[in-house]
Amino acid sequence: MSATVTFDNQVTVAGTGGPVLGDADFRFLRDFVLQHCGIALSDQKRQLVQGRLLRRLRALGLKEFGSYCELLRRDPDSELGDLASAISTNVTSFFRESHHYDLLEQTLLPQWLQQKRRQGDRLRIWSAGCSTGEEPYALAMVLAEALERHGADVDAKILATDLSPQALAGAREGVYSIDKLGGVSAERRRRWFLRGEGSYEGLACIHPRLRELVVIQPLNLLHEWPMSGLFDAIFCRNVVIYFDKPTKERLFRRYAGKLVAEGYLFLGHSESMHGLSDDFDLVGRTVYRKRPA
Ligand SMILES: C[S@@+](CC[C@H](N)C(=O)[O-])C[C@H]1O[C@@H](n2cnc3c(N)ncnc32)[C@H](O)[C@@H]1O
Repeated sequence: MSATVTFDNQVTVAGTGGPVLGDADFRFLRDFVLQHCGIALSDQKRQLVQGRLLRRLRALGLKEFGSYCELLRRDPDSELGDLASAISTNVTSFFRESHHYDLLEQTLLPQWLQQKRRQGDRLRIWSAGCSTGEEPYALAMVLAEALERHGADVDAKILATDLSPQALAGAREGVYSIDKLGGVSAERRRRWFLRGEGSYEGLACIHPRLRELVVIQPLNLLHEWPMSGLFDAIFCRNVVIYFDKPTKERLFRRYAGKLVAEGYLFLGHSESMHGLSDDFDLVGRTVYRKRPA
């Protein structure tokens, strides 16, 4: 397929009339995305970015990428979430990388709940980059069961944050197709989901007890964090994979500042802190513990 230059860097694909992402606009978008989302886009990603942003152009009624860049220059915050959603992936699932949940259930929660016996003691877990909610709700299942098992009267909550408005809307809704529950045991399916009937056939809704435990908030990890308390554990899995090195270094330093002494940080299967932080020890498969001060 050949391309026709129309003006400046605007190019249309011959035969389709669809806009093509020119050099100057791609450079602008690359710098914008790095600055605001921490995501480093290589030249090889240009086609992908073009394809994914075409949908945003259509949704906004824009005819060319130049107008989209202009919108980002004018009002960076309003479009940031949708831009990030378009270029990053929201892929997730219940009990993804299940060894992390095993560690939490078998070792960490019993230990923490044993220590947190005084009234008003808090237990906080943060799912940073929670996507459509499968991760925080799976954490909530394990937490709810541990609270019951240990008879603990602890103020326990899971904070679930993401940058993508679409992902957060899905997390708030908490309704999932039954064929997406593959990672959930039959017992947990019965216990923690309400089965849809009639027009909701084939869908499963998160149990209200889990909703009580999960607080969902929008948050760009690169911006200010409004939370004042510390966390016992932070799950930031399959999020930093696209971030450049300085962004990861800064983020890991900030996570260390947000964890209690010897708090835990969980990363995704292809992520590592190697050479990026002196604040943590590797204590399991992509599991890190904050070093004592
Ligand atoms: C692949 S999903 C991972 C979901 C879940 N943690 C898991 O491992 O299954 C990555 C999520 O990170 C979010 N994300 C990417 N950059 C972010 C940023 N700068 N601030 C907050 N969330 C971000 C994306 O919107 C996406 O929902």
